[in-house]
Amino acid sequence: MAQIKNTNNVKINSDFKFEYAPAPEATDMVKIKKQNKLFINGKWVSGKNNQFFDSINPATGEKLAEITEASPDDVDRAVKAARKAYTGQWSQFSGKERSRYLFRIARIIQERSRELAVLETMDNGKPIKESRDFDVPLVAAHFFYYAGWADKLDYLFNGKSVRSLGVAGQIIPWNFPLLMASWKIAPALAAGNCVVLKPAETTSLSALLLAEIIEESGLPPGVVNIITGAGATGAALVNHPDVNKIAFTGSTEVGKIIARSTVASQKKLTLELGGKSAHIVYEDAAIEQAVEAVVNGIYFNQGHVCCAGSRLLVEESIAKVFVHKLKRRMRSLRVGDPMDKNTDIGAINSKNELDKIKKLIAQAQIEGNEYFEPELTSIPEKGYYIKPCFFNNVASSANICRREVFGPVLAIQTFRTPAEAISKANDTPYGLAAGIWSEKGAKIHKTAQALKAGVIWANTYNKFDPASPFGGYNESGWGREGGRHGLLPYVEVK
Ligand code: NAI
Ligand code: MG
Repeated sequence: MAQIKNTNNVKINSDFKFEYAPAPEATDMVKIKKQNKLFINGKWVSGKNNQFFDSINPATGEKLAEITEASPDDVDRAVKAARKAYTGQWSQFSGKERSRYLFRIARIIQERSRELAVLETMDNGKPIKESRDFDVPLVAAHFFYYAGWADKLDYLFNGKSVRSLGVAGQIIPWNFPLLMASWKIAPALAAGNCVVLKPAETTSLSALLLAEIIEESGLPPGVVNIITGAGATGAALVNHPDVNKIAFTGSTEVGKIIARSTVASQKKLTLELGGKSAHIVYEDAAIEQAVEAVVNGIYFNQGHVCCAGSRLLVEESIAKVFVHKLKRRMRSLRVGDPMDKNTDIGAINSKNELDKIKKLIAQAQIEGNEYFEPELTSIPEKGYYIKPCFFNNVASSANICRREVFGPVLAIQTFRTPAEAISKANDTPYGLAAGIWSEKGAKIHKTAQALKAGVIWANTYNKFDPASPFGGYNESGWGREGGRHGLLPYVEVK
C-alpha cells in the first residue's frame, strides 16, 4: 500500500490507516526503589527471610525492582498489627472519623494520579490512556464513595445496626492492581475493619505506592498492612487463624483452593473469579457502536479483564457485515509501547501469561477454528506483545468458546432467535457479565432477565461506577463488590 507522509509526521496509507508519531508519557515523576520493603504496622520493614523476587516491566522485559517475598512469619506480623489496630483504635472510631481518613486517601490519590498511572503502566503493561483515564480516576472514586458510607452504616439494613468483622485478608490479581486494591480496602475500612492486603507478584509496585499514600494520610498504624509475595504468601494469609474475612480476586483454580481451605473456619469469604462473558448483538443494534464496544471489551487492556466480552453472539442476518466492520476496526488498532498515549493494546503482563495465550490460540487453530488477525504495521520485538485476534463460527463446545483466555482473543458465534442467543450465552461454566445490543427496550429487558450473569450492560460495555455492584454466578465467584452490596461482606448484622 502506498504511503504518503505529511508534514505532521502522520503516515497515511490508502486504507485510511493512521500512524502517529510517538507520544510517550513522561516517567520522571515516578521514583522506583531498587528493593522494596513490606508495609506493616505503619512502618516499612524487611522480610524475615530477606528474600526477594523481581518485578519486570512487560513492555521491555527489563527488571524494574526487587520485591520482598513475605514469609508466613511476616504474614503473622501483619495480621497481629491489624488485630492490634482494630481492637486498640479503629473499631472504636466513629464512622465520621473513619470517613475523614478515606476522604483524605481519595484526595491524595487524585493529587498523585499521574504518578500512580505511570507506575501502574510500567509494572502492568496496560496502555497509559487506560491507567490514566480509567483505572486511577475509578480508584479515587471508590475511596470517595465508601468514605460517604462510613457514617451511614445504620442505613445498610432497614432498622438494624451492623458491626465490623475484624481483620480482612485481601488477595488481588495483576490485571487491575490499583483498582482491585481500592475495591478491597475502601469498603473494608468504611465498615470498620482492618486490612492485610497482598498484591499479585507481578504487580506489587502500585500497591506499595498506595501504602505510601496511606502513610501520608495519617491513617493509624496497622489499619492497612501491605505485604508482597506470591501464592505461598497468599496461602499463609488465607490460612491464618486470626483473619475474619478473606476477599480474593483471581483465577477460578485458586478461588477453589481458597474456598476449600476456609470452609471449615469461621472466615467469611468473597471470590471474584474469571469469566467468558458474551455480547449479544441483535440485528436492530447500532452496529458501529457495538463494533467499537466489542473491540473495547476484548482488545483494550489486552483482554486482561475478568469481565472481558470474550464471546460475540451476533444475529445471523448481520453477521457478515458485523465481522467485516470488526476486521476493519481491528486493522487500525495500535499495539505497542503502553507508555505511548496513542497505544490501544499494550503489553501482556508477564511471559507466563503471554505463553498461555499463545498456547490457547495455537490449540484453537489446530482444532480447526477459523482464525483472523489483522495485518498490523508493527509489533515491538522486545517485551511481551501479541496481536488481537478472533475465531469465527466457533462451536459452543470448542475450547476457545469455553475457556477463559485472558488475552485479546474473541470467539464469534451466530444465532437466529433470542432463545438461541440466550441459551448460547448461558452455556458456560461462568456467569460474570454480558452485553446486549438492540434498539428495542423490551427485547433488552427480556434477554437480560434470562441471562445468568452478574452484570449486564445494554448498548454499552465495561462501564463502571462505585455505586453499582459487581460480581458473578457459578464459577465466576461468590458475593458482590461495589455499591451498598460491597459493604455487606464486611459486616455482621447485630
Ligand atoms: P492467580 O489466581 O494464581 O493469582 C491471583 C492472586 O492470588 C495473586 O495475588 C497470587 O499471588 C495469589 N495466589 C496464588 N495462589 C494462591 C493460593 N494458593 N492461596 C492464596 N493466594 C494465592 O492467577 P494467575 O496465576 O496470576 O493467573 C492465572 C489465570 O487466572 C489467568 O490466566 C486468568 O485466566 C485468571 N485470572 C483471572 C483474574 C480475574 O480477574 N478474574 C485475575 C487474574 C488471573
Ligand atoms: Mg497462579
